[in-house]
Amino acid sequence: MAVPKEPTWERDPHTAAKHDVLRRYLQAWAPILLSRNDVITYAEGFAGPGIYKCGEAGSPVIAHGVLAGWLRQRPGKMVKMVLVEEDPRRIAELERRLAHTRATRPGPELTRLETLVAQGACHPDLLHRLGQAGSLQHPMFVLLDGFGGPDVPFTLIQQIARHRSSEVMITFQPQFLIRFATKDDHHRESGDTFFGNTDWQDVFGQPSHAKAPYLRDQYRQTLKRAGFDHSLSFEMIDEKGHLLYLIFGTRNEKGVEKMKDAMWKVDTTTGVRYRDPKDPRQQVLDLNFEPDTGPLRRILLQHLKASPTGRRVEDLQRFTLLESVYKPTQVISLLARMRSEHQITAAPGRITRSTQITATHEDVLF
Ligand SMILES: C[S@@+](CC[C@H](N)C(=O)[O-])C[C@H]1O[C@@H](n2cnc3c(N)ncnc32)[C@H](O)[C@@H]1O
Repeated sequence: MAVPKEPTWERDPHTAAKHDVLRRYLQAWAPILLSRNDVITYAEGFAGPGIYKCGEAGSPVIAHGVLAGWLRQRPGKMVKMVLVEEDPRRIAELERRLAHTRATRPGPELTRLETLVAQGACHPDLLHRLGQAGSLQHPMFVLLDGFGGPDVPFTLIQQIARHRSSEVMITFQPQFLIRFATKDDHHRESGDTFFGNTDWQDVFGQPSHAKAPYLRDQYRQTLKRAGFDHSLSFEMIDEKGHLLYLIFGTRNEKGVEKMKDAMWKVDTTTGVRYRDPKDPRQQVLDLNFEPDTGPLRRILLQHLKASPTGRRVEDLQRFTLLESVYKPTQVISLLARMRSEHQITAAPGRITRSTQITATHEDVLF
């Protein structure tokens, strides 16, 4: 991603999409966590100036708006925002933007929305500031949205994962490591710090088309080792055509469900696209009103073939939620089509959550 020199820069389409996902997710995440916890934290390690060239809000301002809205409806609850940014000009702008936001929508709930804005490096300052704010004992949502990195050490992710309700979202551009780390020891070491071990270096032996997905999957393993049992990744194409991954890690199945809802609603003309990590063909998905469920079909068939006695629909729905980019609500209608095309067998009649499904033995090409 091109690194802007000015304190603010133009918002590109993939950033708009990322903001859309973030806004939708926080709208769903905040009320769930506030119903179970008195204090929650929203944090960023690469906060930016809070505004783009044409006046669009940056991620901290978007988060502030959503969280203030929920606090208005949840008396007695508290949200802490911990925002770290290294550029002093951007910090000054961010403080101005937050002050402006608070002045335009004043309200008693703002006393329960504490904002800590700090100039510093994401690592180690973010962790230090989170400790200072007392946030490490409470659930956190941490956005680590640098210019593609790798710039977030595994040790930081491990610390964030210590609270079982915490979640993380990271931007990662695979091209840098693919291009430079073969020849340069220093870049290779930064890869080791990012992934938390050296397994990712097998990327150098992968064919060109498989390198980026390989690093994506390695990073999902990294999140798993840190404690985030579930992860979702989506691809964004920046203004220069570079591939950027946005990867989300959580332990919470509800978090996966809500993030998927946010992802599937995003406007895909903006350079965000999805590929299912489990799809052997790595097909790019079109997320429109009639989403292409070809990859889900392949994934479900593979999963069904591994179990000769078949599987219940509710198990397939959970598998879909946790192991694919698809939503459980897409499963039953797809199974009905698969049955009519003789790819699976199921008792006649309506397919419900308790229906047992088995794969047919025919190898149908699709
Ligand atoms: C992609 S921008 C963040 C945009 C912001 N999340 C948003 O969506 O509005 C990345 C920001 O990280 C800052 N930055 C770069 N390296 C950093 C580091 N090591 N620690 C903290 N901030 C850093 C840059 O100055 C820039 O403002």
